[in-house]
Amino acid sequence: MKKELVETADGTFTARSEEFDECYHSTKDGALTESLKKHVEPAFSLIDAAKERLEILDICFGLGYNTLATLLYIRQKSLPLKIRITSPEMDEELVRSLVDFPYAKALCPFKAVIESIAKRGFYEDEQLFIEVKFGDARGFLRNTDRSFDVVYQDAFSPKKNPALWTKEYFINLTAHMQKRAVLTTYSCATPVRLAMAESGLHLYKPPQNGVRSGTIASPSSNLPLEPIDMELKKERNPSALPLTDKVAFAR
Ligand SMILES: C[S@@+](CC[C@H](N)C(=O)[O-])C[C@H]1O[C@@H](n2cnc3c(N)ncnc32)[C@H](O)[C@@H]1O
Repeated sequence: MKKELVETADGTFTARSEEFDECYHSTKDGALTESLKKHVEPAFSLIDAAKERLEILDICFGLGYNTLATLLYIRQKSLPLKIRITSPEMDEELVRSLVDFPYAKALCPFKAVIESIAKRGFYEDEQLFIEVKFGDARGFLRNTDRSFDVVYQDAFSPKKNPALWTKEYFINLTAHMQKRAVLTTYSCATPVRLAMAESGLHLYKPPQNGVRSGTIASPSSNLPLEPIDMELKKERNPSALPLTDKVAFAR
């Protein structure tokens, strides 16, 4: 886990992974802005308002922005719902080091959360249970019987981290999504969208909110968003193929 700090467009810090040769966040959108606008706000705008408990799968924990941005959002909106966040992450050393990470001022109220996660791998209070599952996200999905309302799909890019973007991976993930679950991701790559569509997910354009657009996916075919028709895409570009394990692991 060698990483170098990088300041992003909104003034918050991300890091650059030497192993993946990539930043943990979009430097153009900003680390905290990306978490809020590409993941948290779209997901919460689509979940059933009557829900009292929410199960979130944060793939993967990284610097913890998606989890922390979720806490910031529910605090700002005074949402009373109980939340359980489960986050696979293979880089345990990174998570252990996060006590020293220069998070933005807005995230300071959650210092105790990060300290607990870095020290013990989890945080718990009356409203929250947050747990990092150290190890391979695919292994976690194969072995869990849990089912999620929200999935933040936030691995490194499909080029650098293909194992978490294949059709086989999404088939496994879809089996752990509730009927109206919402998956948010920054990726709009056709091989990824085809992999998601062929795993049974319906795809949608995210609401326009000032950041570069990604994809929303759900087992439900009636989210109140503009659908993305992958059949039409395939008709127009018959050579387009989904990303599969065979291709990903041959790299
Ligand atoms: C783009 S970063 C995640 C950023 C994070 N969501 C945040 O908000 O800070 C991708 C993360 O995926 C982790 N990762 C990559 N492949 C993995 C795998 N197969 N299983 C678990 N974690 C993985 C990397 O160690 C890295 O921390």
